[in-house]
Amino acid sequence: MEIRDNKLFLGGVSAEKLALEFGSPLYVYEEDTLRQRIKDLKTCITYPDLRIHYACKANTNVTLMRILREEGAYLDAVAPGEVFLALRAGYKPEQILYTGNSTSRADLEFCKQHGLLVNVESLTQLDTYGEMNPGARIAVRINPDVGAGHHGHCITGGPDSKFGIYQDKIGDVMDLAGRRRLQVVGLHSHIGSGILDLSIYLEVMDIILGLAQEFRNLEFIDFGGGIGVPYRPGEKPIDMPSFGKAVTEKFSAYVKKAGRQMALAMEPGRYLVCEAGFLLTTVNNVKETPKHRFVGTDTGFNHLIRPMAYGSYHEIVNASNVQDVRESVVVAGNICESGDVFTRDEHGPVDRELSKVRINDILAICNAGAYGFSMSSNYNSRPRPAEILVKNGQARVIRRAETMENLLYGME
Ligand code: LLP
Repeated sequence: MEIRDNKLFLGGVSAEKLALEFGSPLYVYEEDTLRQRIKDLKTCITYPDLRIHYACKANTNVTLMRILREEGAYLDAVAPGEVFLALRAGYKPEQILYTGNSTSRADLEFCKQHGLLVNVESLTQLDTYGEMNPGARIAVRINPDVGAGHHGHCITGGPDSKFGIYQDKIGDVMDLAGRRRLQVVGLHSHIGSGILDLSIYLEVMDIILGLAQEFRNLEFIDFGGGIGVPYRPGEKPIDMPSFGKAVTEKFSAYVKKAGRQMALAMEPGRYLVCEAGFLLTTVNNVKETPKHRFVGTDTGFNHLIRPMAYGSYHEIVNASNVQDVRESVVVAGNICESGDVFTRDEHGPVDRELSKVRINDILAICNAGAYGFSMSSNYNSRPRPAEILVKNGQARVIRRAETMENLLYGME
């Protein structure tokens, strides 16, 4: 992202030009940023047998998944649909770890058919899968009694969390796996999403490494995703070199002391794709109430639900007029619910200083690459926008916009 003549450019292409050519609203991804994040991670974690499982729930555009595969990513899938897309993106079944939640027998059958490694996350699932696939290799997801995340909805460890097998049930896992002749080759935990203080990540590593002693056939340990990115001005990015060093040292010390050979796996979603993505939208409307000046756009929580779901902050740049006098506005969507406001917290609208906004200006909602399109919907019967990849001044469509006809799918 850069500014030229007071206009925003993404991957060397003007945001205004992109909206004109491909329509508005529009999701745009910078290929260089995408490639850079995974490279950063791989450079900073120097443990030789490292596996980065891209948590594709963050963004399942097949082109982006393919780019990450080219950069050496493996894959974390949570549903058969994600596996289907991953296979299309060229991932091999042995590169995919399947971590479902409340997984059905049919989904387990799908995993068996496709030769996937299943990351079992309850004792009942362990029993069912053992009955269906005796002798299978499995991984086990542990709830380490600790959780963290940017919002309560995104904390996946501790007693309030429905995920994983509680750490005090390890004995039961061993018994049941033994009875069902399942080989536990992987241990896993994922404590939550959007964590900017990674000291807790390192603490959880200690807990999981402590439990790893019990399992003799481990080929890898996966410490999950959760690495946060700064959304608000003033939030500090993760110090990746020191985090990478700490993770590498901890894991290396463990394998050396335990005399074991094991891969170190992680499952970032947000960190890899968030900052590469922007949602471009056009200003349709400006109006005032005694409290706020509302700027109305041509998108809404149907296309980016994070502000509405978690009160999340997303930086917004006036791409048509980047530096002008600042004015206090509330940026809203076009969906028929009062919660449909992009500048908000958990309680409601919050004024934001934006460079002077005029009708037809293009606004860029930043950090939209993760959990943007993948959580979008057709609410209010609005088709989803196109997705565009930009690099070196070139733009190409990586997903066409939906049409009205798509809204009828399966009903006629
Ligand atoms: N592994 C597992 C098992 C997960 O459930 C998740 C995310 C990840 C990895 C990747 O986490 P990440 O590195 O992206 O933090 N919709 C929310 C985030 C939900 C995350 C769900 N699980 C948001 O927009 O903030």
